[in-house]
Amino acid sequence: MDEKKIKQLISEAYQAQKNAYTPYSHWQVGAALLTKNGTVYQGCNIENAAFSPTNCAERTAFFKAVSEGEREFQAIAIVGNAEGQKAGEGDYCAPCGVCRQVMMEFCNPQKFQIILAKNLEEYQIVTLEELLPMGFSLDSCLPDKGEICK
Ligand code: THU
Repeated sequence: MDEKKIKQLISEAYQAQKNAYTPYSHWQVGAALLTKNGTVYQGCNIENAAFSPTNCAERTAFFKAVSEGEREFQAIAIVGNAEGQKAGEGDYCAPCGVCRQVMMEFCNPQKFQIILAKNLEEYQIVTLEELLPMGFSLDSCLPDKGEICK
């Protein structure tokens, strides 16, 4: 992916982060998920008084996309920081284990790119396989059906 596209995706993640609903943790996350055909779906984290219904930004983006019929994905940009903290002050916000598993369902672990950004200039790109080695997927339990996002 070229630099311009990466920066565009990071800035969409920051746009999504503005909608984070975080009255409990005050930790605000934004994600921008790029499909294979170039559409971007934004997601933010949405917390809940009962805690466990909380949904991470990454899963919000995936579920929005999948519910719109998308099944093939190229990359996701993720930004996260405490409320009030400025971009660049914190560390990278890596996806939680549950979100990595959701990515595993729809993405090729060797190809899917996860862009972790501190700001528009500082980012690192890792593959899903690097974040979730030996991940369990549709391929593992139904090898003949594992044609998703190859
Ligand atoms: N969170 C995300 O949205 N994505 C992650 O990958 C890590 C955690 C959210 C969940 C919760 O609303 C807050 O960050 C603190 O855990």
